[in-house]
Amino acid sequence: MKSTVDKKMANISVLLCFIIIAVGSANVSAMNQQVRTYVLNKGDASLNLTNWGASITSFVLPDKHGKLADVVLGYDTLEEYKNDSTYFGALVGRFANRIGGARFTLNGIHYKLVANEGKNILHGGKIGFSDVAWEVIKYHNEGHAPYIVFAYHSFDGEQGFPGDLHVTVKYTLLGHYRLSVIMKAKALNKPTPVNLAQHTYWNLGGHNSGDILSNDIQIFGSHITAVDSELIPTGKFLPVKGTPYDFLRPHSVGSRIEKLPESKGYDINYVLDGPASNRKLKRAAVVYDKKSGRSLVLFTNAPGLQFYTGNNLKNLIGKYGAVYKVYNALCLETQGFPDAVHHPNFPSTIVTPGKPYKHVMLFKFSTKSRPPFA
Ligand SMILES: *[C@@H]1O[C@H](CO)[C@@H](O)[C@H](O)[C@H]1NC(C)=O
Ligand SMILES: *[C@@H]1O[C@H](CO)[C@@H](O)[C@H](O)[C@H]1NC(C)=O
Repeated sequence: MKSTVDKKMANISVLLCFIIIAVGSANVSAMNQQVRTYVLNKGDASLNLTNWGASITSFVLPDKHGKLADVVLGYDTLEEYKNDSTYFGALVGRFANRIGGARFTLNGIHYKLVANEGKNILHGGKIGFSDVAWEVIKYHNEGHAPYIVFAYHSFDGEQGFPGDLHVTVKYTLLGHYRLSVIMKAKALNKPTPVNLAQHTYWNLGGHNSGDILSNDIQIFGSHITAVDSELIPTGKFLPVKGTPYDFLRPHSVGSRIEKLPESKGYDINYVLDGPASNRKLKRAAVVYDKKSGRSLVLFTNAPGLQFYTGNNLKNLIGKYGAVYKVYNALCLETQGFPDAVHHPNFPSTIVTPGKPYKHVMLFKFSTKSRPPFA
């Protein structure tokens, strides 16, 4: 009897302790989430995810000979994801990409954000959506379209952003090696900037197959948003014609990479061509890896695409002891334009309680060994 009471007391004090820690910390709901791996299978394709940062941790696909490989960079353990600073596979927010000076003004109110890249803010701040546990609200690894839905409640003032925001991301694995990612956000009480992005590092040859410089890529953007030396947009649109940024026709990633300013690789936002309406999906990019025969075509309703070539990978230890080096992967982050809060000529990224946010990505992978260029 006594021992049961002791046990109960112990449980209660553990619970109390937990509540106190939870209340004193950033986010109660995030504290209570268990972090684990979830799997979606469809035929011979399989996608692993974790609710830490609503991240993709692996994606296994066949090549032209039917040989399977994992085509995304990542780590072996969830602890490494928690300590990560590369945003491997993560869902980034509340505002993906950079906001100059980590501050903005909205409806006459000045907001100061948590800077995490010099004086600027990148991918939502020191503790962005990629650095928290999300709740799993639906998970079905069966049927013709296995899916999972992660949800996160971002509180008013989180990293300096205004208002409570309810965010969800749904990952669905469809037939014919298609992957859909649907990101939604609803402002609950105040207008706020919102820009969500999926930050997977792709290497169609396999996560440990070396650099992606020989991948051919086509990007359907005739302009980039010009940036200053800190990668903050100046507000100008620069035509890609005649520059190393021109991928309107397919070129290998490495063909002109040395000609980039400071030869640091690609890390730039493309203004996607095609309908501005955010209800229609448009083709954003095609990537083709000759060696494996794997390719991807990415469609989106977002106005921009940040093309990043893993410029900051410096001998990072990844899955199964793989060593990831510079240019060992590429990121295709569809999104609103960086620093849009400071540029009235950019599409608005402000979400209001009456106007929810929806961002769709559709990846069509293929193993047919024929490049699906437009
Ligand atoms: C995916 O997760 C499952 C379950 O944790 C694991 O057995 C499998 O090895 C993972 N796949 C990859 C490619 O990491
Ligand atoms: C955490 O990340 C840093 C680099 O950002 C690295 O130097 C360190 O070894 C990592 N720690 C663990 C426990 O993985």
